[in-house]
Amino acid sequence: MTKLILSERAARIGIAPNAAAKARAQALAASGRTVVELTSGEPDFDTPDWIKQAAIAALAAGETKYTAQAGTLELRNAISDKLARENGLTYPAAQIIAGNGGKHVIYNAFAATLRSGDEVIVPAPFWQSFPAMVAINDGTPVQIAGLREDGYKLTPARLEAAITPRTRWLILNSPSNPSGAVYGADELTGLAAVLRRHPHVWILLDEIYEHIRFDDGSREHWLTLAPDLADRTLIVNGGSKPFAMTGWRIGYGAGPVELIRAMTIVQSQSTSAPSSIGQAALAAALRGDQRFVRESVQAYRERRDLLLDALADIKGLRCIAPQGAFFAFVDCSALIGSTTANGRHILSDTDFVEYLLYDHGLAVVDGTSFGMPDHFRLSFVAERGALVEGARRLATAVVGLTRRNAVARGSETLFTEAV
Ligand SMILES: Cc1ncc(COP(=O)(O)O)c(C=O)c1O
Repeated sequence: MTKLILSERAARIGIAPNAAAKARAQALAASGRTVVELTSGEPDFDTPDWIKQAAIAALAAGETKYTAQAGTLELRNAISDKLARENGLTYPAAQIIAGNGGKHVIYNAFAATLRSGDEVIVPAPFWQSFPAMVAINDGTPVQIAGLREDGYKLTPARLEAAITPRTRWLILNSPSNPSGAVYGADELTGLAAVLRRHPHVWILLDEIYEHIRFDDGSREHWLTLAPDLADRTLIVNGGSKPFAMTGWRIGYGAGPVELIRAMTIVQSQSTSAPSSIGQAALAAALRGDQRFVRESVQAYRERRDLLLDALADIKGLRCIAPQGAFFAFVDCSALIGSTTANGRHILSDTDFVEYLLYDHGLAVVDGTSFGMPDHFRLSFVAERGALVEGARRLATAVVGLTRRNAVARGSETLFTEAV
């Protein structure tokens, strides 16, 4: 067989770790084991029927052709209205692009702007696709670890220290996947002050979880706090998370007109435009009754509380209550260095995650994949029963570990005494 030679860009990236975790869980389930899967990053609700009806109506009306390459005017106007109504921002249609998901919008932005070796600051813990999309577009992801005591958030001092003349973008994701952290108005103002000192740095603001929030904090938008940064901010959002439309693949970006134009050219030579039917559906969703969003957030809140209560009872795990998105990001550093009942050493979060899967039938995603070792991510987008059973398995797994013997990890010695 002729050997396949990968492009340099393709060789830089791998499959998304949550997809890999899901595949491992499914393979185990196919072998007959019961597996509780808490890896998912998408709403488990169906898209509301009235949104589906809008898609059906678009089909019936013959909206089955290529659309404008930046998206239909109907959709871009609906996005413009949404940004005005919900965020107090003014973006005409010329400053808006619809893509095949928020992910594709981010990809377009990097493809349109990064040159070889350009740096993109990716605060950790991060959604794994951020560094991958930077790398495939010839950029260099620069990871800055968020500290637990800072709520896993980027601080002005750490941002300042990371900026170099080669920095092109800072990625801000609030609410965050995987930590659930939400930046408050003061924190955003502090970051904006740093960015004002570095006018060559652009800001990619990923707000895909905008509406999935559990805190009572300020809802004031980055660009109403720092309107002077609008000429170098790209807002990214989409239908996937608020309207349970992950499979429809429609997201959007709003930013300076030259950037949107450059992204549209990239899009025009790759996918032409997103699906006409999906665009009609998202336009209807943005213009329609937002009750579904509120009700689903209430359901996530109940599941979050259930999971947090269960986690609080497990000695050795620590979790900051997520203020948004639908994940709990759990610190398992106290378990590193422990030994399983059959004598295996847990030397890392990936060992722990494997132990959870193969010994206890619980699938989660390791923190290393999010740039933050000694943690793991639990999704609470699952039925109540699965969450209760998942928490039970987690507790049993932790109790089954012996934290006694000294174990070497690299040059470190972990656990010299019983815990
Ligand atoms: C932080 C973050 N941004 C963007 C996306 C992209 O979502 P979509 O491409 O479905 O709009 C995701 C999806 O998981 C995400 O977690």
